[in-house]
Amino acid sequence: MERHTQGMLPQGALSDKVIFVTGGGTGLGKSMATYFAELGAQVAIMGRREEVLTQTAQALQEQTGQKILPVPGDVRQYEQIEAAIEKTYTELGTVNVLVNNAAGNFISPTERLSHRAFDAVVDIVLKGTYNCSLAFGKRWIADKTAASVLNIVTTYAWTGSPFVVPSACGKGGVLAMTRSLAVEWAKYNLRFNAIAPGPFPTKGAWSRLFPEGLEKLIDPKGQIPLHRFGEHQELANLAAYLVSDYSAYVNGEVITIDGGEWLQDAGQFSNLSRIPNEMWDQLERQVRGKKD
Ligand code: HXC
Ligand code: NAP
Repeated sequence: MERHTQGMLPQGALSDKVIFVTGGGTGLGKSMATYFAELGAQVAIMGRREEVLTQTAQALQEQTGQKILPVPGDVRQYEQIEAAIEKTYTELGTVNVLVNNAAGNFISPTERLSHRAFDAVVDIVLKGTYNCSLAFGKRWIADKTAASVLNIVTTYAWTGSPFVVPSACGKGGVLAMTRSLAVEWAKYNLRFNAIAPGPFPTKGAWSRLFPEGLEKLIDPKGQIPLHRFGEHQELANLAAYLVSDYSAYVNGEVITIDGGEWLQDAGQFSNLSRIPNEMWDQLERQVRGKKD
């Protein structure tokens, strides 16, 4: 097995953590929840579809031997978050990590979107994240709990991106919130960090961002210098580090894990990677020749 597909932290590294993962029933949220539990954390997973959460919780409980709590709810609804938090405290005790991972997204030319479509995505991504951060933050500050928040953004949070404009607006806001609260709430012993993943195959993302047929026109791996997608375990390793006490001095940071994707076309001469090796002899002769 290659190193990056293996767990990285020592056993028991998260045994003092109770972790609340939004969108933990599927995809990357599920992979992070799995590794957190393998490292000894107790984990609550939140999402709208109760049956998905229950199935995931059962499977993870069997796999890891840890208690996994399914808490159905919509992150857009503040009262539902408060109820989910209450249930988690009752069942698992004091929560000390929040992972804001739930998201909504789909590709579309912006002029085709209704204002409700825009709301649907921004409300899950940005409102969902500030709802959860505020509800937990108020409680942690009142109880003097030391805790940390990990927000899952993406690289177009700072570059922007056409065809996913509501998601870009939402993720940009989440990144601003990460950095703002990292400073404002450090005095309460609360840390805020973010991960910006490149493409990691999940059913939720692939069905909405790379629908069948699109791969014939666009090769998403072609945009990635390392020419591969991410492995869920490598993202789970980074997430586990950032929510663990090993990263106690990391605050207000966003860590990109994308094989170099967002920088691919940023450098002025990136397109020279397309030049075959054989051609460089000729090019060098031409360039050196200019000197004389
Ligand atoms: C245009 C669309 C649309 C589409 C929905 N709408 N899909 N408009 N193109 N493909 C419109 C609807 O017509 C409606 O507007 C409005 O959006 C709300 O739709 P609902 O279905 O009622 O919304 P809701 O049930 O709240 O579902 C939210 C959702 C859905 C975002 C639309 O896709 C969802 O539940 N997603 C959750 C999971 C997810 O998206 N995972 C992928 C994350 S990947 P009208 O006007 O008709 O009422 C990710 C990766 C980032 O974030 C980076 C990748 C590299
Ligand atoms: P996913 O499987 O579709 O995950 C999204 C999760 O969010 C689902 O479990 C969904 O569950 C939950 N969710 C959506 N709306 C919700 C709401 N209103 N309330 C509560 N939960 C809600 O997609 P994923 O690829 O794993 O994405 C996970 C995170 O990674 C997202 O933040 C995404 O932006 C980010 N990301 C992913 C990639 C990638 O390549 N996969 C790249 C960059 C960033 P329900 O539908 O049951 O509510």
